[in-house]
Amino acid sequence: MRIIRCKDYADMSRKTANIISAQVILKPNCKLGLATGTTPIGAYEQLIKWYEKGDVDFSEVSTYNLDEYLGLGGDHPQSYRYFMNDTFFDHINIDKTRTHVPDGSNLDAEAACAAYDELMAAAGPLDLQLLGIGRNGHVGFNEPGESFSKGTHCVELAQSTIEANSRLFDSIDDVPRKAYSMGVQNIMSAKTILVAASGADKAQAVHDMIYGPVSPRCTASILQLHADCFVVADEAALSLC
Ligand code: GLP
Repeated sequence: MRIIRCKDYADMSRKTANIISAQVILKPNCKLGLATGTTPIGAYEQLIKWYEKGDVDFSEVSTYNLDEYLGLGGDHPQSYRYFMNDTFFDHINIDKTRTHVPDGSNLDAEAACAAYDELMAAAGPLDLQLLGIGRNGHVGFNEPGESFSKGTHCVELAQSTIEANSRLFDSIDDVPRKAYSMGVQNIMSAKTILVAASGADKAQAVHDMIYGPVSPRCTASILQLHADCFVVADEAALSLC
């Protein structure tokens, strides 16, 4: 794992955006794995600014998002599809038909997950997978457990994740209890992985990801086995490293 130390959230966001834009410049029809959450918002804002200046062109890029809440359609303001459109896709020249998010409105979990895996298999390996990290070390919605997941699957969210994500909902009761998530094998298949992390509340998870034993108790620890993985994190997130 390569660690890129950043001063603060703004610095982390610019460096993350720099790596993503370099990927798009080097390979205009690249396949990006994208993440939601608070962490990548600054990077998406930076990419929008560079797009507006004419520095980066997304017209041939395809994207595959990590996860989606079960039961939320793309028009629901808390859905990850809505987040991606609102935060990023609506502000750049990407072809929306090339942007993919698991279908949270499909309540048939087996069918929804199989469809997403088929889509990804047809696309081939992602060129760059952007990840955030949960406070409990989850990536996507792959919560701590007894084993690493493989393909896209339906996840029962951990109580700590429901609590952490409730800040974005009117009340904790509104947070869906389940989600569809790419599996660890999907994530590990990407050619390059970029984990973005910011803030002291991520310090333990970031430490365990980099230095802990490789264990499904900290899902992100498996990234130690990836041949081309960067961690772009600020001082607060790296404070235990
Ligand atoms: C969420 C998402 C993850 C995200 C993580 C951290 O639950 N499913 O993809 O990386 O938690 O979120 P944040 O960046 O808001 O801290």
